Amino acid sequence: MNEEFHYKGGELYCEGVPVQQIAMKTGTPVYVYSQNHFLKQHAAIVDAFHEVDPLVCYSIKANSNLGLLRAMALAGSGFDAVSKGEVYRALRAGAEPGKIVFAGVGKTPDEIDYALEQGILMFNVESEAELEAISRVAAKRKMEAPVALRINPDVDPKTHKYISTGKRENKFGIDLDRAEACAKRIKELKNLRLRGLHLHIGSQITYADRHAEAIDKVTPFIKSLKQQDFPLEFLNVGGGYGISYHIGEGLPIADFAAQMAPRIKALGLKMLCEPGRFISGNGGILLTQVVYDKPSGDKDFLIVDAAMNDLLRPSIYQAYHLAWPVKSPGLPDGGALSDDSPIDEAGPGDGITYDVVGPVCESGDYFALGRNLPKMNEGELLAIFSCGAYGMAMASNYNTRGRPAEVIVDGNQYWVAHDRETIEDVIRGERLTPRETFSAKA
Ligand code: LLP
Repeated sequence: MNEEFHYKGGELYCEGVPVQQIAMKTGTPVYVYSQNHFLKQHAAIVDAFHEVDPLVCYSIKANSNLGLLRAMALAGSGFDAVSKGEVYRALRAGAEPGKIVFAGVGKTPDEIDYALEQGILMFNVESEAELEAISRVAAKRKMEAPVALRINPDVDPKTHKYISTGKRENKFGIDLDRAEACAKRIKELKNLRLRGLHLHIGSQITYADRHAEAIDKVTPFIKSLKQQDFPLEFLNVGGGYGISYHIGEGLPIADFAAQMAPRIKALGLKMLCEPGRFISGNGGILLTQVVYDKPSGDKDFLIVDAAMNDLLRPSIYQAYHLAWPVKSPGLPDGGALSDDSPIDEAGPGDGITYDVVGPVCESGDYFALGRNLPKMNEGELLAIFSCGAYGMAMASNYNTRGRPAEVIVDGNQYWVAHDRETIEDVIRGERLTPRETFSAKA
C-alpha cells in the first residue's frame, strides 16, 4: 500500500496498525502519526533537489512532537525554529546545532543569546533593528553571529490571506529596496557574518511558479552581494509546499524542484528549505469518537469528543479536512488521500449530511459543515485527515480540556509519544491563594 493511512477490509489503518486498536489503548481524541510518512517526505525533498545539495530544515512549528523530531534528526534533517523553546526542542531531540536556523520577527536578546551559545547555523533576520540586537548580544559574547537576511520579495503566493507572508503588506522580511542598506550595515558591524538570504512567501502553496518568481526577484540582489564579496553560501527558500487536504490536491515536490533547482544552481548557492506541512501534514490524523447524534431543525449535528481546542484550523481558517468513519464496511481498499482514494468526498449515496462539531461553547467549534458521510452512531470513531501539521501544535486548553494524546506508528508497532494531558496537568501553576503578595509602589 503506497499510502500510510489507508483502508483495508473496510477499516482504517496507519501503516500496519488498525487505528481502532490505538483508540482503544489511549482513548480519544488522539493524534496518530505515521513516522514513515515524515521520513518519506523528507527523503522526497532531498531527492528532488539533489543537484543543489539541499539542507532540509524541518519547520518545528508544524508539529513539534519530540519523538518525531528525533526520527527526523536521525534521518539527517535540520530544523527551522522560531523560539528559544523550539531550539531547545530540536537539541533535546538530538539535532546538530549546526543544522538549526532561527527565524521570527521578534527574537528577544535572551533568545538570541541562547541560540548563539548553542552554535546554531544562522539567524534569519527580519529587520534592521534585529541586526543591531544580534550584533549587541554577539559583542557581549565576543562572538561572530551568522545571519541570513529574510527578504520580502513582494510575491503573491495565492493562498489563504492568514498564511500569506511574502507580500509587501505582510509584517515579514525586509523589503528589497532596504536590503542593500542592511548588507552594508552587516559589513560595518564586523561581528555579523552574512551567510545567506532567506525567502518564505507563505504556506499551503499549490502553484510551482510562486517560489520561482520569488527567487527571480532576489537574483539581482544576490549578484550584487557577490560582486561586493559577501561570503554568501545559502539560499534558504523557506517552506510552503502544499499538500492534499482534498483528495488529489497538492503537487509532487518534483514540480517545485523543476522550477527552483536550476535557478538556485545558477546562483552557485547551497539550497536550504524549511518545509513544515509538506513533511508532517498528511502524516497525521485526529481520531475522535461520536458522543451524540443530534438532529435539530433541518440539520443533523454529529457531536464528537474532539473540539476546536484540539484542532483549530477549521475554526480560524475555514480549513477543509477530509473526515470519514474508521469502520467503513464495504469500502474498497486504498489510500485515503491518494488520487484513487476509495472515499467519495461527495459522500455515499445513502449518506447523511452532518455538521461535525465539538463540545466547546462556540459556534465556530466545528470540523466539517454540511458534510455527507455514512451514517454514524454514538461511540463510533471518526478520522479527521491531514492533521499532522498545525494540529497538536496549535492545540490549547480552552474550556479546561486537556490536550489529546499523540501516538507514533512505525510499521506494525505504535507507541504513545505524548500522554494525554490530565486536568491536573492543565491547572499546574495556578494557585487558589497568593504565595506572595506585592504592593503597588507609591
Ligand atoms: N518558514 C517560515 C519562515 C514560516 O513562517 C513557516 C510557516 C514555514 C517555514 C513552514 O511553512 P509550511 O511548509 O508548513 O507551509 N497555522 C497555519 C500555517 C502557518 C504557517 C506559518 N509559517 C495553518 O494551519 O495552515
